[in-house]
Amino acid sequence: GNTMEELKRIIEEKGKVLSDQVLKTDSFLNHSVDPVLMDHIGRDFAGHFRDDGITKVITIESGGIAPALATAMHLGVPMVFVKKARPVTMTAPLTATVHSFTKNRDYELCVEQGLIKAEDHVLFIDDFLANGDAFKGILTLLDQAQAHLAGAGICIEKSWQHGRKTIRDLGIPLYVLASVKSMSEDGIVWDEPDQ
Ligand code: G4P
Ligand code: NA
Ligand code: NA
Repeated sequence: GNTMEELKRIIEEKGKVLSDQVLKTDSFLNHSVDPVLMDHIGRDFAGHFRDDGITKVITIESGGIAPALATAMHLGVPMVFVKKARPVTMTAPLTATVHSFTKNRDYELCVEQGLIKAEDHVLFIDDFLANGDAFKGILTLLDQAQAHLAGAGICIEKSWQHGRKTIRDLGIPLYVLASVKSMSEDGIVWDEPDQ
């Protein structure tokens, strides 16, 4: 809908192609945040998953927090962000090891056990989808809590990486706002996400 076109326009205006692999979006999405854009993104994700009985939105710190909060606001449900470092106050963590492709190292996801319940229908929201390793970590955490993953909403997908296939092969509904087919100093070539 409208939000897809709005996000793509803002990416073209304010994003920076750092290489054919990495898109910088720090001025509106994951460092500095455009609140009006987040509101529109949240409304769009909430509308798409409106009838799926979502009880909670989940994301990973830090880039996913802004769109996840906006989505939770529009759905009228809580948002939980999974942490990448275990705070001393976390008494009973669920944990999952994730391999970061971009940083070429492993890191630990953790979330306080009681925050995700077995009866939860959870919507995963994130800023970027690359290989889907972060997504697999979330799935591991939700499995431990015996909660149901009802869908995934992604702001920007890099469609040549295999994140889309990972999510689809697991039978999880996926909704992407902006799908990058390729990018270079000449600009971005958009993909048509089938959803
Ligand atoms: P994957 O989980 O999908 O396999 O992806 P990968 O390991 O490659 O990505 C790790 C991190 O890099 C994630 O954020 C992800 O959002 C981000 N990322 C991946 N591709 C891009 C890109 O082209 N541009 C930008 N700006 N980010 C990208 P993170 O490092 O876990 O943390 P945070 O930045 O959200 O705090
Ligand atoms: Na992220
Ligand atoms: Na990021």
